[in-house]
Amino acid sequence: MRRHWTCMIGLAAGLALCSGALNAAAAQRWWKGALIYEIYPRSFQDSNGDGIGDLNGITGRLDYIKSLGIDAIWLTPIYPSPQVDFGYDIADYQSVDPKYGTLKDFDRLVAEAKKRNIRIIMDLVLNHTSDMHPWFVASASSRNNPKREWYVWRDGKAAGVPPNNWQSAFGHSAWQYDAKTSQYYYHKFYAQQPDLNWRNPAVQNAMYDVERFWIRRGVAGFRLDAITTLYEDPKLRDETIVRDKAGRPEINAFGDPRLANDRTDNMPGVHDVLRKLRQVADSYPAQQVVLIGETWVGSVGELRKMYGVHNDELQLPMDLQVGFIDKFDTPRFRMLINDAETGIGSNEPLFVLDNHDRPRWDRYGDGVHNADIGRVLSTVIIASRGTAMYYYGDEIGMVTSTPARKQDVRDPVGITGWPKEKGRDGERTPMQWTAAPNAGFSPPGVKTWLPIPPGSVKANVASESGRSDSMLTWFRVLGRLKHDNAALREGDETMLNPGDANVLSWLRKAPDGSAVVAICNFTAKPQMVRFDPKMLGTGSRIAATLLKTPGTEDPVLLSAIPLKPFGVYLLQLR
Ligand code: GLC
Ligand code: CA
Repeated sequence: MRRHWTCMIGLAAGLALCSGALNAAAAQRWWKGALIYEIYPRSFQDSNGDGIGDLNGITGRLDYIKSLGIDAIWLTPIYPSPQVDFGYDIADYQSVDPKYGTLKDFDRLVAEAKKRNIRIIMDLVLNHTSDMHPWFVASASSRNNPKREWYVWRDGKAAGVPPNNWQSAFGHSAWQYDAKTSQYYYHKFYAQQPDLNWRNPAVQNAMYDVERFWIRRGVAGFRLDAITTLYEDPKLRDETIVRDKAGRPEINAFGDPRLANDRTDNMPGVHDVLRKLRQVADSYPAQQVVLIGETWVGSVGELRKMYGVHNDELQLPMDLQVGFIDKFDTPRFRMLINDAETGIGSNEPLFVLDNHDRPRWDRYGDGVHNADIGRVLSTVIIASRGTAMYYYGDEIGMVTSTPARKQDVRDPVGITGWPKEKGRDGERTPMQWTAAPNAGFSPPGVKTWLPIPPGSVKANVASESGRSDSMLTWFRVLGRLKHDNAALREGDETMLNPGDANVLSWLRKAPDGSAVVAICNFTAKPQMVRFDPKMLGTGSRIAATLLKTPGTEDPVLLSAIPLKPFGVYLLQLR
């Protein structure tokens, strides 16, 4: 509203002035070109010796986080929760789980982070609550309870037959029978995560209040969990079964037919909610609240829609395509990054490498060049135009440590899906701070909630801190360059050598004319890459090295740059 009136006054002084002011405001948006660090609080730092990470642990590590050049921390859910889905089953949206601390601890985290110019982003789970949330307890208590309509209750098709064929993302039917009231309720995720009924305005208002509650407590944004799953087909039609070429149903890791998700995902209505969430966010202009979406969409066109036709929905829907190609497919990377550059208007892309739901970056590893592969991936994500996000531990080269035995699995999805789907424990192991027992995560002797991977003896913050060739140093330099180098901070981006199937290279050019070339060898073989200085818009045949894979020479001429397997260069043009 305030902005509206400024514009009206600006009208008198000339429209140009007003739009200039708006552009200036837009240019200041803190998330543009920012680095966001995802923390799984349970696994970051245990401050009270119970084997579980907590808020005070995070607060105590803010200087470390600052040293990475991080602008904001996304905390996965810290709300009171039975922890069936480790926090994604929320029992109270306006408090903190005692395992993680108190609201006071949270306030201190926000305040201490602010002193370091780091912002806090909360995870907002809107699709479902815990079955222990008082709303659901009331809803399940009787068919006439006023909260009945807050969830999705339906009669079965017949005795013992659920309303339709919909499945939980975590395996088997998405319908749970409740004997007390003789109806089924719908759950896209675990049965302990009943879906809210977003067609009910009372549900919507309750959630907008939650959004306000945390903004008033000082958060700078939200990561909207599973945001495309808010609505289901009101007619409850069956989902399409995905079939192979012979017409047989494809079978998923849980042994069920694979469904097309065409009645439970991305249904009409989602965008109305996004606009409303954005209005609430924008009603606190001083705070510059950002909305990040967990947006698993299949094309840049779909991604574009998440920003809103009038750029009034998410400021940062996650681009989960680039970081999840899962193999070194050079043309595909080039195409998807170029899509993000050209297909989302003037919006900012958000590139993501991995998270608490997917194996870590070592899924790209070949077992021989893993460290250099980590350098390639982080360069692609961080040196591209846009906001970048990475997951705690990536910066020290932490790897996926999947449980070897079913009895060790903590993530229920891994128990249901064993052995095809082993769950997500592998990417949630405790942060590796030192080479000591328990890796500095918990005091020695404490049983940590997930085991400390043996690799922690080598890959840890203490041992990597002083080493110029460590992964940690690599990430620190990348983080610094993303802020301090004009071309990497605000330059536009052009893909180079589009026919090269082995080397991905791109040019970043800042408004002040300065430019950086990024070069990544996507193969396990040495490569030679050649640039025409004229194409790069430089008169010089040489460039200064900003960053390079350890153990390589500075390139001599732009016209012939040798690369070692998975070698990387960031070069400043003169
Ligand atoms: C999102 C979260 C995941 C969670 C699911 C259900 O995909 O990232 O961890 O299990 O939503 O809330
Ligand atoms: Ca603890």
